[in-house]
Amino acid sequence: MTEYATIRTETRGRVGWITLDRPEALNALNSTLVTELAHAAAAFDADEGIGCIVLTGSDRAFAAGADIKEMEAKTPREMTMDNPFVGLEAFSRVRTPVVAAVAGYALGGGCELAMTCDIILAADTAKFGQPEITLGVIPGLGGTQRLPRAIGYYKAAELVLTGRMMDAGEAERAGLVSRVVPAADLLEEAGKVADAIAGKSLPVVYAAKEALRASLETTASEGLRFEKQVFSSLFALDDQKEGMAAFREKRAADFRHR
Ligand code: CAA
Repeated sequence: MTEYATIRTETRGRVGWITLDRPEALNALNSTLVTELAHAAAAFDADEGIGCIVLTGSDRAFAAGADIKEMEAKTPREMTMDNPFVGLEAFSRVRTPVVAAVAGYALGGGCELAMTCDIILAADTAKFGQPEITLGVIPGLGGTQRLPRAIGYYKAAELVLTGRMMDAGEAERAGLVSRVVPAADLLEEAGKVADAIAGKSLPVVYAAKEALRASLETTASEGLRFEKQVFSSLFALDDQKEGMAAFREKRAADFRHR
């Protein structure tokens, strides 16, 4: 297992765990952390033994944003040519579903990082927001695009334009959070969700994620066409035959990821 400076990784069964670990900066996303996160996620994504990834932080912070101190003096040219966040684009495109387990602050790039994931479980201590406007910038890692899609234009605009934070309950009501759980149960619940996903057929899980992602990027009619094609193509898999035979025979399916 690779040794990292700003994250910790672990494999539990078919689940790959990535824990952001820069406590001195509330897990602020500096270039090292982003590079390590992308590397770890790519390694899990390339491993057929991994069916789901959990991404988490600490009790105090999932991530308090991009690293302001690292960014402060940069020029537009440096932000473009030497983009410290380039790894997040790769992270957002992994085939494996990612469960974000969020406790404490998920602000700015931290909220944006959570929004690149497929499921967001929030501890009741979680706080979400896009405070970039208070720093004299705007969200730069997807906040102006993914937040309105998640919670609607008007609520997203209020958060982005004022920099206000919302608590876990408000985030759940708004549709940003899949489910809120007591802080003490967050990792256990994330593990259960991840195990449930990792127990399914991997190529089918990849297909489901790809079709879900299409809903964010294409028109409804194109998305429906894509879904129909993917659905039909899955009938070539042994796991489709196994899943349906298991239903008929009233037993649990034994998926072989084929
Ligand atoms: N970047 C760099 N360092 C950060 C940081 C960040 N985003 N957030 C926190 N830290 C550091 C603090 O500077 C502090 O370090 P020192 O002890 O060396 O001073 C340490 O983490 C602990 O933070 P605080 O003392 O501030 O903790 P607090 O409990 O009083 O406040 C907080 C917590 C409200 C989250 C506050 O730290 C804060 O407002 N952080 C910045 C949040 C923010 O603006 N995020 C957006 C960043 S810009 C961005 O993300 C752009 C983008 O879209 C790409």
